Amino acid sequence: MPYPNERPRRLRRTPAMRRLVGETSIEPRHLVLPMFIREGAAEPRPVPSMPGVVQHTAETVRKAAVEAVEAGVGGLMLFAIPEHKDAQGSGAHDPHGALNATIHEVVSEVGDATVVMADLCLDEFTDHGHCGLLTPDGVVDNDATLRAYEQMALAQAEAGVDVVGPSGMMDGQVGAVRAALDSAGYTDVAIIAYAAKYASAFYGPFRDAVESSLIGDRRTYQQDPANIIEAMREVRLDVDEGADMVIVKPAMSYLDVVAKAREIADVPVAAYQVSGEFAMIEAAAANGWIERDRAVLESLTSIRRAGADIILTYWAVEAAQWLHQR
Ligand code: PBG
Repeated sequence: MPYPNERPRRLRRTPAMRRLVGETSIEPRHLVLPMFIREGAAEPRPVPSMPGVVQHTAETVRKAAVEAVEAGVGGLMLFAIPEHKDAQGSGAHDPHGALNATIHEVVSEVGDATVVMADLCLDEFTDHGHCGLLTPDGVVDNDATLRAYEQMALAQAEAGVDVVGPSGMMDGQVGAVRAALDSAGYTDVAIIAYAAKYASAFYGPFRDAVESSLIGDRRTYQQDPANIIEAMREVRLDVDEGADMVIVKPAMSYLDVVAKAREIADVPVAAYQVSGEFAMIEAAAANGWIERDRAVLESLTSIRRAGADIILTYWAVEAAQWLHQR
């Protein structure tokens, strides 16, 4: 009677055995919580397409930041929705503007207990919704936008941010931001660069969350989902320009890009599990079609398995709390 020579099932027999041989783990410190703040809001406002996610007020963001610290998350990534938007996105570099004021508040609340990061992009601040400044013909002007990012980086550094996250996919943005920070003496402010950021349909709910008024699309600056060689070029450029960490975004449909970035980059690689990925799992779970908590942990595990050192996820606090209970 022929027996199988190899029996992988032996290592799956008991929970203890499975625990012993598990290859991939997630710890709360690997998770970064994206947070939205709405300028002038009196009450936190739920984001309809992202169940459980709110636009915070200046008050509630502090509390939520403390809760995240208590859960042990590795970092916070701040986004703000200004009351007034204009063509230049001038709220972005206003020291009292929505984002810079929030950075200041959150940093004074949490100190060094976690890493405070901020999105460095104009799209939340411009009335046309693009990530950069427009020429009179409506084209995103790369180099004029770099000057705006430099101003924004300085305002965020002044507000006390630990890490800036340039996410506009302008050519040369990391180098420009690094030089501006250094020449103003902010040599300790780190850069997490959205290096491989795709023009993705999975950002849909985020645009609700930041009340984006985007006209057109972002395909002249965000990447084509078909391309991975180009993504490696973007990663190489950002590391050469001084990125301390790089991000691949979205995560779940781009795990090959995460894996390859982990191979070629000698800095920590983060993956951003974006709003649409979150919404899909929440919506399917709400219908009873999948088991929510298992699906969430499986998604995070797969992103880590692909090679992400850090995961930006709207489930950061909840997942961190589960991980403590295990
Ligand atoms: C740009 C930015 C976006 C997201 C994060 N930073 C939107 C975009 O590029 O269109 C999307 C995040 C998400 O979908 O969760 N400031």
